[in-house]
Amino acid sequence: MVEDYSGYGSKFLGQHGISVLIEALNSEKTYRVLFDTGTSAPPILTNAELLNVSLRNIDYVVISHNHYDHTGGLVNILKVAERTIPVIAHPEIFKVSFAIDPSLRYIGPPPNPETFRNAVKNAGGLWILSRDPLKIFDGAYTTGEIREEGKVSFEKKVTIKAYKILDGVLTPDNVNDEIGLAFVTAEGLVVLGGCSHPGIISIVKKAIKVTGVNKVRAVIGGFHLINASEERIEETVKAFKELGVKEIYTGHCTGLDAESALKRALGHRFRKLHAGMVINI
Ligand SMILES: [Fe+2]
Ligand SMILES: [Fe+2]
Repeated sequence: MVEDYSGYGSKFLGQHGISVLIEALNSEKTYRVLFDTGTSAPPILTNAELLNVSLRNIDYVVISHNHYDHTGGLVNILKVAERTIPVIAHPEIFKVSFAIDPSLRYIGPPPNPETFRNAVKNAGGLWILSRDPLKIFDGAYTTGEIREEGKVSFEKKVTIKAYKILDGVLTPDNVNDEIGLAFVTAEGLVVLGGCSHPGIISIVKKAIKVTGVNKVRAVIGGFHLINASEERIEETVKAFKELGVKEIYTGHCTGLDAESALKRALGHRFRKLHAGMVINI
């Protein structure tokens, strides 16, 4: 629905952040899940119109983590919807987050966590907060929190300098509360990550553990490797190959270095995400 890159010669609007609408056809019905909501709603609503899809009848919203570029559009998207919509997230979505580089700034949900929590409720959102993996419907699961012990070794160090207020004190934040989303398809798992701050490989491995499905059909989202070391990028590419991931669709905070390394390794199985992109699986 939206992405940092609008696409070459595209009619769609780009915006910092990511938002993906998933239409999942299972045996009983088609479920419509909105994963993340960009920085603000207007470009998402414009792109929805251009794609001829409606956000009036979404069944669920899943929010990967609390950063503004994933939460900013939520309230105004819920206002467009015609029903009460479960909003699935980690309980730490209401933490107070800061970045300090190049200057101190708030990076959590706008305008502040408490106002956001209530505005979502007033707009018809029903908070469903869980640290643990959650089955949304047959074949659709959140990964739950990626705990330190569940991380692959090269992803133990986070690639973002983020901070949170913990007991009133500014404390480094490794964003381990970010959750991924996984769908079991006939061809294997489809895994979505927002910024993938806990590490995209650790998120995919958690999705495999939660669903019991080893084959990974596609990984979609931002991988936050924008300031990652060459080694970290190499390890990530190697791990994707070892996992036998068939296709990767990435952009947002993945960064040119990681994107070009993935492109070199995967050829046409790598696709750069852009606003308005339609993926059929
Ligand atoms: Fe992000
Ligand atoms: Fe983020």
